[in-house]
Formats: sequence, structure tokens, C-alpha cells
Amino acid sequence: MPMPHHLSSKDFQCPNLQLLRSTRAASRIRMEATAAPTAPRNSTLEISIKKPEPVFVSSRPRQSSNLRDPETTMRDRVEVIDSMSDWAVKSLLPLLKPVEKCWQPQDFLPDSSSPTFYDEVLELQKRVSSLPDDHLVCLIGDMITEEALPTYQTMFNTFKGVRDESGCSDTPWAVWIRAWTAEENRHGELLNKYLYLSGRVNMKMVERTTQYLIGSGMEPQIDNDPYNGFIYTSFQERATFISHGNTARHAKEYGDLKLATVCGIIASDEKRHEIAYTRIVGRLFEIDPNGVMLAFQEMMKKKITMPAHLMTDGENTNLFRDYAVIAQDCKVYTSKDYTDIMEHLIQTWKVESLTGLSSEAQQAQDYVCGLVQRFRKLEQRAQKKAKPLHSAASASQFSWILNSGKPTI
Ligand SMILES: [Fe+2]
Ligand SMILES: [Fe+2]
Repeated sequence: MPMPHHLSSKDFQCPNLQLLRSTRAASRIRMEATAAPTAPRNSTLEISIKKPEPVFVSSRPRQSSNLRDPETTMRDRVEVIDSMSDWAVKSLLPLLKPVEKCWQPQDFLPDSSSPTFYDEVLELQKRVSSLPDDHLVCLIGDMITEEALPTYQTMFNTFKGVRDESGCSDTPWAVWIRAWTAEENRHGELLNKYLYLSGRVNMKMVERTTQYLIGSGMEPQIDNDPYNGFIYTSFQERATFISHGNTARHAKEYGDLKLATVCGIIASDEKRHEIAYTRIVGRLFEIDPNGVMLAFQEMMKKKITMPAHLMTDGENTNLFRDYAVIAQDCKVYTSKDYTDIMEHLIQTWKVESLTGLSSEAQQAQDYVCGLVQRFRKLEQRAQKKAKPLHSAASASQFSWILNSGKPTI
């Protein structure tokens, strides 16, 4: 997923990476033993199975003043999440599709066991041959973003009160995380196989980029906060819905109707996931409007960092920026989309009409609601002095593209 280019190149760097590397090198992983009957005595690597901490239940009224310390805020928010378990069972889990009713990548790919397999592959290659290189770059970048799914599941499991404590926890939040991951897993797999068969992609460089990206992680600045986390995921799912929806439209325009169906079916999953996350935040607005309002402001001030912002192929350190520029040029994902998403979320959560907020939350409300107009003005200004973005990035420079402009058949 590209990022809008009002973010600067420093947003692509992870300041924590160097620290992380040195910390890893200097430290020895030690898991303290408390409850592992099979762990050998005197072993340097011992295993600990810790019980989840009990959720704090407070009788204090929920405040939203700047006098509150972050620990209290977090404790209150975890308490709210915990109180939503029954709601999540009734209103969130039904948004998951039973596996038997889900599409699978194979539904849209040539069947390698069929005698017509090679003919089907040739047909696929003919269809994709009409897609311009820059649109192919967008598709590959979207696919790599999807393939870094382990990072997103890891990120999800940093949300306090939500995370899957055991790996197979039966809380509705943990059930959602695993099933969401399983649904998402089909996206990267389908795009990967389709692009592999197209014969136009340098798969080794794409695979290398994916490996780098998963190894680098992401820095969404959620700070373990479930409110921040669900605002982030609401934004991201809508961004991916828009991006895949646009690639579907472009594939159709360039004559690959099957690719259009592939991108469209992925976009419809993203839409369903967007509904889930915006529904959670909507519920949070009902229970704790002051807290969510402050979290919304916090995430908008930090700006929504795109999940693949640490992307590199090992050669181009500006790979993500270049991909974002091309996506903007191709109108796959633009800075206008960023503002549109913000506006959409404000409307969905009826932020402008919220009443009875604390003074601090009212200020946050004014800030968030004023952002859309500010961003629109910035867009207009940028358009006036717009020069072709292709001068900064060209599809043929991407290591992902094989025989640029020349499909293999
Ligand atoms: Fe996805
Ligand atoms: Fe998604």
C-alpha cells in the first residue's frame, strides 16, 4: 500500500532498526522458567508459560482529562475492550466468512492438474501483456504488502486487551485475529501466483523484497493501545479496499477481465474487514467517546504510516517512495484518497455531531474535523505546481519488472 506523498522520506526509515539490531546482538534471549515440567534442569534456555494478567476492573468513573497518566488511560481502555466481549461475539465475529463459503486462490488460477493448464497459462500471459509496466509495479507493490502478513498479525498481537495470549485463545478478539489473518493470507497468495504466471515479473527480486519487508517489520505507532490500533486498522482496510478496487478498474480498462475479478474479489474482502474495524470503533465511541476522540486525534497527528513503508529490494533504498509515486501517478492510491478516508471515517463515526465531550476531547474533535479542509487545501496547492511525478520514478527502474514493456510471449 503506497503512502501519500505529503509524508517525507524520513518516514520511510525505521529509527528503531539500528537499536533493535544492536540490542539483539548484545542480549541473550532468556525465558525464565516457572511452569515447564519438561524443561531440563540447569538448561540456559528455559521456558515460561505465563498466565495472562487479570483485567483490572475499576470502580472509578472514566475521566478524560490531561491529568490522567498513560498507565491509567491504558488500564481503562483495556477494561472497555474486555467489557465488549459479548458484543464482539454478536457483532464482530459474524463478519468472518466460514471457510467453506470463502473463495480460494485456486478458483481464479489455471489448474496445474488439467491437460489445458499450459493453454490457460498462455491465455493469462496474453491478457496481462496489455497492462502497462507502471500498473504492473502497483500490482506487485500491493502483492508484496499483502505478503508481509506475518508482520500485521504480530502488530495485532501488540494491542493490549485484544492480543491472542496463547496462540489459540478462545476470546472473540483472538478468534478474530487468527481468522482475519487466514482470510488475508489468500490475498498475497492469489496475487503472487497470478503474477508469477504472467511471465513479466522478476520473481526472485520480488521474493527478496518480501523477505526484507517481513524482516524489517513496521512502525505504525500504535503503542500497544487498542483504541489506536482499531483506528489504524479502520484506516488501513479502507486504504487497501481503495487500492485493490482501483487496480481492478485499471485491469478491466486494459483488457484483463480475470485480473480485474482477482483484484475486485480481494477488494471486497478488504471492505468487509473495514466494516468490522469501523464497527468496533463506532462501538467504542458509544462507550468511551472522550477516550476514542483523543485516540483519533493522536493517530491523525502521528499520520497513518503505510504497512509496507520499510520496503526495500536490497538495492533501492527509496523503493517504497518510488512505488508510492507510481501509485499516485496511476491513481491507484493518492494523497486525495488519504484525505477521503479521513473524511469517510469522520462521517461514519459521526464525529462532528458528538456532544457532551470533555473540553480536551472537544479540542480533539475540532482538530480532527478541521483536518479534512486543511488537507484539501494542501492538495489543491500541490496540484497547481504539479510537475510530472514520473520524473522521480519510472517503472523500468524497478528490479521487480522483467523485460520491461515486453511480455515473454
Ligand atoms: Fe489484504
Ligand atoms: Fe486487509
